[in-house]
Amino acid sequence: MQTTEKNNDETETLNQLSQKMAQELNLQQQKKMRKPQQEPRSMTAAVLAAPITSSSGDTRIHSLDHKSSSHGTKRAAPRARQSNLPTRCSSNDATGERTNNSDMVVDSTNSEDDKKFSRPDRPQLPAHAKKDAKGNTLTSSDYYFDSYSHFSIHEEMLKDSVRTGTYQRAILNNKHLFKDKVVLDVGCGTGILSMFAAQAGAKAVYGVEMASIAVEAEKIVRANGLQDVVKIIRGKVEDIELPHDKVDVIISEWMGYFLLYESMLDTVIYARDRWLKKDGVLFPDKSTLYLAAIEDAEYKQEKIHFWESVYGFNMSCIKEQAMSEPLVDCVEYQALVSRACPILTIDLYTVTIDELDFSSMFSLPLTVNSYCHAFIAYFDVEFSKCHVKVGLSTGPGCDYTHWKQTVFYIDHELLVHAQERITGEITVKRNAHNPRDLDIKINSTYAPHHQYALPPVRQQRLYHLR
Ligand SMILES: C[S@@+](CC[C@H](N)C(=O)[O-])C[C@H]1O[C@@H](n2cnc3c(N)ncnc32)[C@H](O)[C@@H]1O
Repeated sequence: MQTTEKNNDETETLNQLSQKMAQELNLQQQKKMRKPQQEPRSMTAAVLAAPITSSSGDTRIHSLDHKSSSHGTKRAAPRARQSNLPTRCSSNDATGERTNNSDMVVDSTNSEDDKKFSRPDRPQLPAHAKKDAKGNTLTSSDYYFDSYSHFSIHEEMLKDSVRTGTYQRAILNNKHLFKDKVVLDVGCGTGILSMFAAQAGAKAVYGVEMASIAVEAEKIVRANGLQDVVKIIRGKVEDIELPHDKVDVIISEWMGYFLLYESMLDTVIYARDRWLKKDGVLFPDKSTLYLAAIEDAEYKQEKIHFWESVYGFNMSCIKEQAMSEPLVDCVEYQALVSRACPILTIDLYTVTIDELDFSSMFSLPLTVNSYCHAFIAYFDVEFSKCHVKVGLSTGPGCDYTHWKQTVFYIDHELLVHAQERITGEITVKRNAHNPRDLDIKINSTYAPHHQYALPPVRQQRLYHLR
């Protein structure tokens, strides 16, 4: 999978020059490593403003309606270390928990009931190793709705106050968009967004949910006396019928890791095309995915180079797997060595499913003299029809969200200079075997023009987000 177009001569020259340059840099000062902490995931970090570059090349403050400050902040421990905590549907296994290799044990208690009610924190046989009755390999797609059946994943989402609070503000501060309207909630989970819509004065709200959490949503709606307005429909959005030909508003929280993981946006697009009135409103309606470069020596050592010598044994075969799986993790603002570049901008009113497989050129303006070990991706979403602009950002330096950031390690660390750029192309495609997984290819070139005139370093790697 890995191809590095760096020849031996170039490598030697690079090494010599790199050593020379490293001496010149005070790397102790430059290193801005991620230091995993033990704070609970629900901690609210200081809110920071991360400068980003818009498609027009302008720099703006990447914080939407958040408060801003100018320094980085420590973050919660990386997800892989918090195996006791539930996570949003990341589906290396039936539970939604990203598989920790050390946890890959055959679970002989994996009955049908277990599958339905398994807790996200329970180690299980990885999904890709399981077979159905016909001997077909089961993938994370087969477990997608199971992972949303247990309350713990909804607890995590509800407790993500940036996420849930932003939807609450967007809906309740814009009652004029909901008053006496018919609303469809695509993937209603516990029914939280449906109930916000009812509070905002909607005439009728249809919360559609495939996972068995729909049963609880129905009870929750009753317990809150909203059953005359909110109707929970259990089923796949693609299969159900509504008692209305068209709806005025579609609300949905569809964003996955790396924005597109889970492919739930496909379902929102389907609902939009089938039910949204001509002048109907989508909540949210805009989203942008960004790429940036980070310094990450300490954590790359811990997650990748670790496999080179484990109690004296060479386990490098796992290193290759670890490299090819992007890490969903918290990245500090100080780790950034470049400004961010938008790689995908989505207008939910017009986007098509085909456009979600995409390729984008990128150019990352470097901001410091440092090393680069990885690219990170993060996104923001916007409710542009609101009276006052509302949105959320998952960038480093913004308030913690359960989406964190997605880290892509590169094979060869780069000694980078401020004023230079890393350029390249990112290609994102749904995995052919499991369309909820993503295959992400990143080609990058670092061709510095500074005084040392280093030869360009070109790298290419295919990542699999599953
Ligand atoms: C990210 S959760 C959001 C839940 C809830 N709206 C909230 O904000 O807490 C998405 C939900 O959509 C459901 N879902 C995803 N695709 C669906 C589909 N095609 N039909 C019905 N439900 C779906 C999932 O089971 C999950 O409960």
